[in-house]
Amino acid sequence: MKKFNVAVVGCGWAAGVWVDYALTRDDVEFKLLVDINIDAANELRKSKNLSCEVARKLDRDIIERLGVNLVFDTTIPDAHFETVTTALKAGCDVFGEKPMSSSLEQARKMVEIAKETGRTYSIMQNYRYNRGIRGFKELLSPEIIGDLGTLHADFFLNPNFSGFRAEMESPLILDMAIHSFDEARFLSGADAVSVYCHEYNPSWSYYKGDISAVVIFEMSNGAVFSYHGSWAAPGFNTSWNCNWRAVGSKGTALWNGGWESQAEVYRNGEFVRVEPKFTWDHTLENQPACLAAMFKALKEGYEAETICTDNIKSIEMVFAAIESSRTGKKVWLK
Ligand SMILES: NC(=O)c1ccc[n+]([C@@H]2O[C@H](COP(=O)([O-])OP(=O)(O)OC[C@H]3O[C@@H](n4cnc5c(N)ncnc54)[C@H](O)[C@@H]3O)[C@@H](O)[C@H]2O)c1
Repeated sequence: MKKFNVAVVGCGWAAGVWVDYALTRDDVEFKLLVDINIDAANELRKSKNLSCEVARKLDRDIIERLGVNLVFDTTIPDAHFETVTTALKAGCDVFGEKPMSSSLEQARKMVEIAKETGRTYSIMQNYRYNRGIRGFKELLSPEIIGDLGTLHADFFLNPNFSGFRAEMESPLILDMAIHSFDEARFLSGADAVSVYCHEYNPSWSYYKGDISAVVIFEMSNGAVFSYHGSWAAPGFNTSWNCNWRAVGSKGTALWNGGWESQAEVYRNGEFVRVEPKFTWDHTLENQPACLAAMFKALKEGYEAETICTDNIKSIEMVFAAIESSRTGKKVWLK
């Protein structure tokens, strides 16, 4: 059985969730915890009852000395590039947190380096991995709602995050909407071809950067995906999964971001309600399900659903939206 000798880089909130899942596997051995704040690495080691080494920096020497072959990148977005490329160049496969990077040039370079080194780099897009979205996707089939014309997501929450998000220029779009944009690709089976975006920051926002945005994408199948989101929205909050509406040639499907979704479709002269059959195996959901999928792909030698060569199309949506917001113009994705 292939053994994964894991280094976790970035020992904050996300790392805890990843480590909890990995501890349930018998093919994972933790070799190293890395954090520029060594106290965070020590704290994670203690709280998860691990006995591996801790370090302030990931480099080739320590990777080779400890025989690390898989790196979990759970650092902040600004540190993903250095972490991922160091790991790939030292011969490791990488599972990394979203967004791939806080710069498009760096994200593209990360894909290039993964190809050059022949290693894999897959990204955590856990919002694809819950029974709610999988059920909603069933309803978006041509047999149920017909040809997809409109996909819409509303996202209104009011969290007061400190740390890296408070300082980012476009925290909503870069750190959060990446999930919804990636979900829109997953749900529609199409990629974005153009975007128009307006970002804004309400006077009561907790954040330095724009925390609200209205975004319109044209997708490669002709559908339009619109998104209105905010992290400065007190009252009547939506789910973290958004509140979705999909309109097709035969009817409309709604998903409130929880487990339940429903379509209303025109059949034999009347509107009827259709519910998903939930064919997706939801033994695991969210981060554990995405991690399990990435491990399975790596073990069996195929590309994970969230491999960097595909995920780059989701992060390109993010940077095209930011460019549109900055220039006030519609942007075409290449
Ligand atoms: N998939 C999800 O649903 C989800 C949820 C939350 C966070 N995230 C993502 O996870 C990542 C981490 O977020 P978090 O909430 O855990 O942040 P966090 O601030 O709790 O933890 C990040 C850790 O990385 C460390 N770090 C920063 N730069 C580093 C470097 N160069 N080398 C080593 N360590 C470094 C920090 O000291 C900190 O301990 C982000 O990319 C974030 O977007 C994803």
